Amino acid sequence: MRHRYAPDARLEYISHRHESENRYPAPTLLRPLTQENPSVTGLRETDMLYSPTRAHIRLDRLRHNTAILRKYAGKAPLMAIVKSDAYGHGILRTARTLAQHGVRWFGVATTGEGLRLREGGIEERILVLTAPPVEHLHVLPEHELDITVSSPAIADAILECTAHAFRVHVKVDTGMGRIGISPGQAERIVTRLDRAPNVEIAGLWTHLATAYSDAGFAYEQLERFDHVVAKVGDAAETIHATATGSILRFPEATAWDRSIARAGIGLYGYNGLEKDYGLEPAMTLYSKVTHLKKVSPGTSISYGCTWTADRPTSIATVGAGYADGYPRIPGNRAFVTIRGGKYPVVGTVCMNMFMVDTGPEHNIAVGDDVMLFGREGKYRKNGPDAADLAAWAETISHEILVGVPAHVPRIYVQ
Ligand SMILES: Cc1ncc(COP(=O)(O)O)c(C=O)c1O
Repeated sequence: MRHRYAPDARLEYISHRHESENRYPAPTLLRPLTQENPSVTGLRETDMLYSPTRAHIRLDRLRHNTAILRKYAGKAPLMAIVKSDAYGHGILRTARTLAQHGVRWFGVATTGEGLRLREGGIEERILVLTAPPVEHLHVLPEHELDITVSSPAIADAILECTAHAFRVHVKVDTGMGRIGISPGQAERIVTRLDRAPNVEIAGLWTHLATAYSDAGFAYEQLERFDHVVAKVGDAAETIHATATGSILRFPEATAWDRSIARAGIGLYGYNGLEKDYGLEPAMTLYSKVTHLKKVSPGTSISYGCTWTADRPTSIATVGAGYADGYPRIPGNRAFVTIRGGKYPVVGTVCMNMFMVDTGPEHNIAVGDDVMLFGREGKYRKNGPDAADLAAWAETISHEILVGVPAHVPRIYVQ
């Protein structure tokens, strides 16, 4: 049957998915796909319109979490890390909400994300946190994006590119081992950059490898960084060394004059630590019961027959799978919440479905909401959150949140 909104069945995916306030994207957003108007992602509006799975994003929680992080960051203003589509929450909607709430710095992973923010009207400072390809260097100053100097080669390229005025943040590798200039080279490079008329040193920064684990190693890194700050920190507009874990755990990490505090996962409600700091999950992921059946003892469920009923029971099929952000490993480990009750995930999680054992007596019906992870409304207390799902999936909440794909509609709740 042909889709009534898509007579030629070829549609462009409109990037307004995060603009839909408490409703699914309107079909009027659909546009025919033409040669001048090619689909980039292959997604269609209809992929979202009829998706049983959707993410509620609570903007009030973003504001609440920002307030908590600010309390721990002391005098240091926050840099909100909104890379990877704001950890799956929608980069523009998140950045606008936070900018309205007084956040003046944003951190992104790529130049493309920086451009999305600029195109979306974000006028605040934006730092691209990764090493830029040298051939794209000029794009950053053209859009007033701050640039990470993560190697002597990038410093040289910037010094040669005298036609542009750069705002640079010199990244010092104090022990993360990812990108950055060694502490021994930092003084020379900062001094050279500082002398260049086309360069403004907007930041000196480092990143901790164990903000969520080994405090001893984190302090070693902070000490190495402190030596560099003592030598050349005065040349820099800002000094930054944190992620959420270190804002919450190490007051020293925001104690330099002109410190700013990078924060990612905490904004979205998780902290990666044992202690409860009062952060509240911003995203709640729902799907629906799409099928329900009674089974007798001995009936096996899903790929590999890894679960078999040992009593008469009922099995509900949920309309989400690992293609929708519900990972595969939690099969036979996790639980979900339906009508306020907890039900175990049984059998292997499939690409677009998984099954739960509802028990023989239940009041569940096809079409019921299934809360996969999050915290809101009647699910506030007893649902699993992304940290629980991460534990079942042997990962971290960051990966669960960014793993919710673009075709899952985001429904924003003020
Ligand atoms: C350089 C940098 N700073 C800050 C963050 C934010 O970390 P978190 O999400 O743990 O707060 C990240 C995240 O990966 C990062 O790469």
